[in-house]
Amino acid sequence: MEIAFLLNGETVRVGDQPPTRTLLDWLRETRGLTGTKEGCNEGDCGACTVMVTDADGARALNACILFLPQLHGKAVRTVEGIAGPDGSLHPVQDAMITHHGSQCGFCTPGFVVSMATAHLNGAEDFDTQLAGNLCRCTGYAPIIRAAQAAAGAPVPAWMREDLAALKADPLAMPAVFMPETSDDLAKWYKANPSATLIGGATDVGLWVTKQLRDLAPVAFLGNCADLKQTSVTQTDLFIGAGVTLSALGEFIADHHPDFAGLIRRYASVQIRNAATIGGNIANGSPIGDGPPALIALGAMLHLRNGGKRRCIPLERFFLDYGKQDRVAGEFVEAISIPRQPDRLKCYKLSKRFDQDISAVCGCFNLSVSGGVVSDARIAFGGMAGIPKRAAHVEAALTGQPWTEDSIEAAWDAWEKDFTPLDDMRASAGYRMDAARGMLSRYFLEDIGAQTRVLEVRP
Ligand SMILES: Cc1cc2nc3c(=O)[nH]c(=O)nc-3n(C[C@H](O)[C@H](O)[C@H](O)COP(=O)(O)OP(=O)(O)OC[C@H]3O[C@@H](n4cnc5c(N)ncnc54)[C@H](O)[C@@H]3O)c2cc1C
Ligand code: FES
Ligand code: FES
Repeated sequence: MEIAFLLNGETVRVGDQPPTRTLLDWLRETRGLTGTKEGCNEGDCGACTVMVTDADGARALNACILFLPQLHGKAVRTVEGIAGPDGSLHPVQDAMITHHGSQCGFCTPGFVVSMATAHLNGAEDFDTQLAGNLCRCTGYAPIIRAAQAAAGAPVPAWMREDLAALKADPLAMPAVFMPETSDDLAKWYKANPSATLIGGATDVGLWVTKQLRDLAPVAFLGNCADLKQTSVTQTDLFIGAGVTLSALGEFIADHHPDFAGLIRRYASVQIRNAATIGGNIANGSPIGDGPPALIALGAMLHLRNGGKRRCIPLERFFLDYGKQDRVAGEFVEAISIPRQPDRLKCYKLSKRFDQDISAVCGCFNLSVSGGVVSDARIAFGGMAGIPKRAAHVEAALTGQPWTEDSIEAAWDAWEKDFTPLDDMRASAGYRMDAARGMLSRYFLEDIGAQTRVLEVRP
């Protein structure tokens, strides 16, 4: 059986391609659609942006780390399909010309597709929508002006995808498994424990494009409907492992707005539209942004191995650098967060505001009762080989008055908790100072002081 999807409105069927053939390579090398550019080939620059539509709507994604099977049953629109069939320009293309939004033009196709997707979705927060598209020469002001100018124009009829016209049977390709339920996944993975699971492929994609690894057999989790669910019970917030960072940001905003703010700083729209929270945890990265916030909230991790399920505090999943508490054939099914009054604050420190990996990510969740710290959960990324709680700092604060003196008294505890990384993102000393500073900032914000440099008020 072949992969079937709509490409600029036309049904295409693709057979005889390896399961990890990227959409970018296929577009450029097999279809001759060279409008979609290759800049970084690792999800960083947005030159390869395409619009992908499925039952959940239209999203901008990076074609360089998108594997062909991930498109099965969906619609793809490249820059070649943004103008109308008769050559009429899309309003964002028109506006890019009027507002001089292009110089060398290398980034322009990616910008145009991101802008057209935002235009279709009625999104007007252009600094966010375009943060995953890099331009080296025009400068962003004319591009943002173009996006603003096009915002009110009607969506051209040709941009609406007719998914009903696509006849796509369930995918059956050698070495590819695409389950529709987590029950099917559990059965298959138990029988194929050395297979590679692929969520959004924002990590795995780079294993192919940068490390040239052969991953087969692979299972794509993107069609497991139950893994993409979120729900709220009386006691917990449940988040399926396949929930994308974009969807998580929307879901969590009502419960823990600062976590949603942290997710806004997580990579770019294109990456957040693909990346899943299950992948962000399972990769065990010491600098992932999801785990510190979830650990500070007391999240539990739900793991499944065939018919067996177990549930552990998330912090216990990370054993050592590159080592997690997960046996062969076991996968992340969900995360649950106990419902609680919102006291969470998340601080991501990186060299750029947008589209950058954390040097330090500190998440704080302290309860204060009668002026005394009654409970403390503090978790960090970038401060050890794993995402880690500041257990000694927490102990030094618990039972103490919530004052600057108590923060000062906890000074030495930081060194018992962390031996930070020393790398090109930050020195160990800088990381330690920054982590201590974050606790002071949490305190100051808690007593109503204004600390956010992006929220300077008169
Ligand atoms: C340009 C760029 C910017 C990035 N910026 C950030 C950032 O700011 N913050 C950040 O935290 N991360 C960032 N990342 C890293 C990446 O986006 C995240 O780690 C992401 O959440 C991974 O999710 P995924 O679904 O894409 O995982 P995949 O790439 O599909 O998988 C990652 C790993 O998890 C495994 N896996 C996936 N799902 C499951 C499951 N349900 N159960 C068990 N194993 C599973 C895979 O086998 C693989 O080992 C960035 C990546 C890129 C390319
Ligand atoms: S080529 Fe840079 S994001 Fe894809
Ligand atoms: S126009 Fe040259 S990189 Fe943007």
